[in-house]
Amino acid sequence: MAAPDDVAAPAVEALRELRDRAARAMESAYAPYSGFRVGAALLATDGVIVEGCNVENASYPAGVCAERVALGSAVVQGHRQFLALAVATEADEPTPPCGICRQALVEFSPELVVLSVTRGGREARWSLHELLPHAFTPHSLDHSRH
Ligand code: THU
Repeated sequence: MAAPDDVAAPAVEALRELRDRAARAMESAYAPYSGFRVGAALLATDGVIVEGCNVENASYPAGVCAERVALGSAVVQGHRQFLALAVATEADEPTPPCGICRQALVEFSPELVVLSVTRGGREARWSLHELLPHAFTPHSLDHSRH
């Protein structure tokens, strides 16, 4: 039987890859208005990693966050369950996903592990549940009256 360390190793490796992919995705960010470039990488349960970057617009509200670009891309590729998300920015401190992205993500993976990394090598880690307690989920609709 494999030792616990051997079992944990691939997960550590997957998270390393996830951080790298988020940082690389950040290089594609289109953020001429905020100057705040963001990259995101989602790890699906089958091991596939899907990237996104923020895509801003001259009509500001039409812009979209890196996390939701990654999520939409993953869903169109057939992925609906995720283990982890990495977010990469150039901020001094790791930044968590915005509220809208938390809501978009909880639809698919309430137990998601969320990592945020900076260029300077700082890192924060949360669970999505911690970031969005008392979430409105598909299950919430079960209690509606029609
Ligand atoms: N942004 C993201 O891409 N993800 C977040 O979680 C927070 C904010 C983007 C949106 C906008 O393009 C820029 O960062 C500044 O808010």
